Formats: sequence, C-alpha cells, structure tokens
Amino acid sequence: PISLKVSEQIMDKMNFKHYMLKEIYDQPQTAKNWLENYLIKNLDNGQYQIKYPFDTEFFESIERIEIIACGTSKHAAMVGSFLLEQFSGIPTNVFYASEFRYSPPPLLPNTLTIGVTQSGETADTIAAIDMEIKRRSSIEDKKFKPNLIAITNRKESSIGRQVSNIIDICAGIEVGVAATKTFFAQLLSFYGLAIKFAQIKGNQSPDEIGKLINELIKLPPLLEDLLHKHNKSSEKLAHDFFNIKDVIFLGRGINYPIALEGALKLKEISYIHAAGYPAGEMKHGPIALLDKKVPVISIASPGEVFDKVISNAQEAKARDSYLIGIAPECNGTEIFDYLMKVPSSNELISPLLNILPLQLLSYHIAAHRGLDVDQPRNLAKSVTVE
Ligand code: G6P
Repeated sequence: PISLKVSEQIMDKMNFKHYMLKEIYDQPQTAKNWLENYLIKNLDNGQYQIKYPFDTEFFESIERIEIIACGTSKHAAMVGSFLLEQFSGIPTNVFYASEFRYSPPPLLPNTLTIGVTQSGETADTIAAIDMEIKRRSSIEDKKFKPNLIAITNRKESSIGRQVSNIIDICAGIEVGVAATKTFFAQLLSFYGLAIKFAQIKGNQSPDEIGKLINELIKLPPLLEDLLHKHNKSSEKLAHDFFNIKDVIFLGRGINYPIALEGALKLKEISYIHAAGYPAGEMKHGPIALLDKKVPVISIASPGEVFDKVISNAQEAKARDSYLIGIAPECNGTEIFDYLMKVPSSNELISPLLNILPLQLLSYHIAAHRGLDVDQPRNLAKSVTVE
C-alpha cells in the first residue's frame, strides 16, 4: 500500500482553529486514500478486489476471529465484529486488551487474532498480543498456531515489529488526542476485511459484495457534503447545549458502537458526562436518568432495527428529554426535536456517515466551552503504560 510520505502530510492546522477540526475535515481524503490504496479492479471481470498484503490461503483456514483493542480502536473493532459476523459469517469476539491480558478466553483452533491500535504502541494491546502469541506458540497442534493481523496507522511501531501481517490504515499523522480520522480509517480497514472474508468463504453473493463496494466508492463526496452541512448547524447546537451535564447516546446493531464512540468523543474533549447504550437497553436502567436536562442523541439508520430505535426514542421523549436524531429525513424521524440529517444508505455503510456529525458536535461543544480540544486534560495520544 502507498502510505502518505511525511513530507506530504499537512502538519499545520491550515485555517482550522484546532487540529481536531482539521482531522475531522480530512476524512473524505482518508476515504479516497483507502479506496486508492486497497481497492483494485480486476480488468478481466470488472470486479473489485481488496488488495491486502497477505495470501488467500491465510484467510481460508480461519474459522473464528478475536479482536483486541483499547479506547476508540475498540469501537472500530466492534463495528468490524458486526461486519465479520453478519456479512462474512465468521464468529468474532472483541476484547478490551486490558481485560484480555488477565482473563483470556479459552484457546480455540483456527483463530485469527487482530490487534487494532492506531499508534501501534498502546501497552495493553501490545502485551495482550504478546501473550496470545506465546500461549498459542506453546501448543504443538498446528490448528492453534498464532494467525495475526495488526490494523495500525504506524507500521514502524511496536505492533509492527510483533506482527507481520499489517493493514496500514494510511490516515496520515493525527495530532488531536481524540481519535477521529484514524477511527474512520480503522473502520474502512474492517470493511475491507469483511469483503475479503465474504469473497473467500463464499458467504455473500458477488452481487451483494459488489453493492457494498459501490457504497464505499460513493463515500468521499457524501462525506464532504456531510461536513459542509453540519459544521455550522452543530456549532449552533453546541451554543444551546454547551452547559449540559449528562448526555445519553443510543444506537442499535452496527450503530451501537457508534453511540459508544459518540459518547466517548464528547467525554474526552468536553468533560461532559456521556454514556452510550444499545437503544433496547435504555429501559433497563438509563431511563431513570432522563428528564428535560438530559438530552438523548439517537442514531436511527433505516434498516432492520429502525422502528425499534424510533420507539426507544419515543420513550425518551415521554420523559421530556430533548431528542437529537442522527438519521436521514424519512417517516418516523419527525419525532426528533432536532435532526442531524445524513444521507440514506445501506445500513451496513451507515456508521461511516453517522460518525461525522457526532464528531462535529463534540468538537463544537468543547470549543464553545473554551477547552483545549487537541490536548484534553489527563489524556495522552498513546498510552504506553499499563
Ligand atoms: C488513548 C487515546 C485514545 C485511543 C486509545 C487507544 O486512550 O487517548 O484516543 O483510542 O489510547 O489508542 P490506540 O493507539 O491503541 O488506538
């Protein structure tokens, strides 16, 4: 893959007030880079292939996947797990690296271990992968041998030395401590893996795979449009909400991790308490928190669980919460007090669209509070201690 050369990486903020805002705006280019680096058209049959740097045989023996990550990378892994299970049909589990280290799952044969870390240096992730390599290598049976992939933005890093199969996310340098474009690029890497597995395992027809690829190809202008539409409106929304104390984020299915990531972004940079839940779980506890002082941000992408998400939003509205929707304008979305419109898409693609307005909203709330958006208190870009 063609990584951006350091000299080509724009290290100044251009006209942006903060690196984070610039990096949010970099995402259409992140998508273009990924498509250029990893998608190739087979000239014989006109079909697209994912150009990851390892052999087809590598994928053939895999029966299950475990993914190890921390923070935002864990949320990308959760979207990845949804894709790998629902689209490619491979049983997949995601683990916090810090938990995996001390309570690893029982060893199962023909397992692929994926480490996700944008910095390639997160201590818990490195140690968990190391442990997995050691415990698998100690077994003679070939079915238990370590099969590893690392998804990282820095192939010359600790994880790059540990693992030979690297998917370089090619996001360029990210300066803001809160991950934005690297999250987006990690997501894309998982779409690539899911497509690759679906092709090799034959779990989806070439038609279905082609549809997903076409949606990925269409992304860059949609992302540009989203940024253009939501920058000003989220600034206005931030003006009304910069003083809130708690926010609840709801999503279901493939957008549940996006609710988690939306909440994490807001917490990290604005110091406002925020929590993400699978929307169906709201009634089992979080609903007790709701009143007019606690806004609810609900991700409602058309698809299998759309009606359910809308009815969960209705329950929040009945408790006087101000409702912000991340959804296309369609039947059902009139329930939202404020709709951050996203283009209608295949549900599987929706996380790549829904995350942008959430990043912008967090950014503008933190900026409105006058905080150090790029260097939030107590946080580090890469955590190299346990
Ligand atoms: C730190 C950063 C987060 C990041 C996490 C994992 O906590 O502040 O933004 O998601 O580390 O980092 P990694 O480099 O492993 O993706």
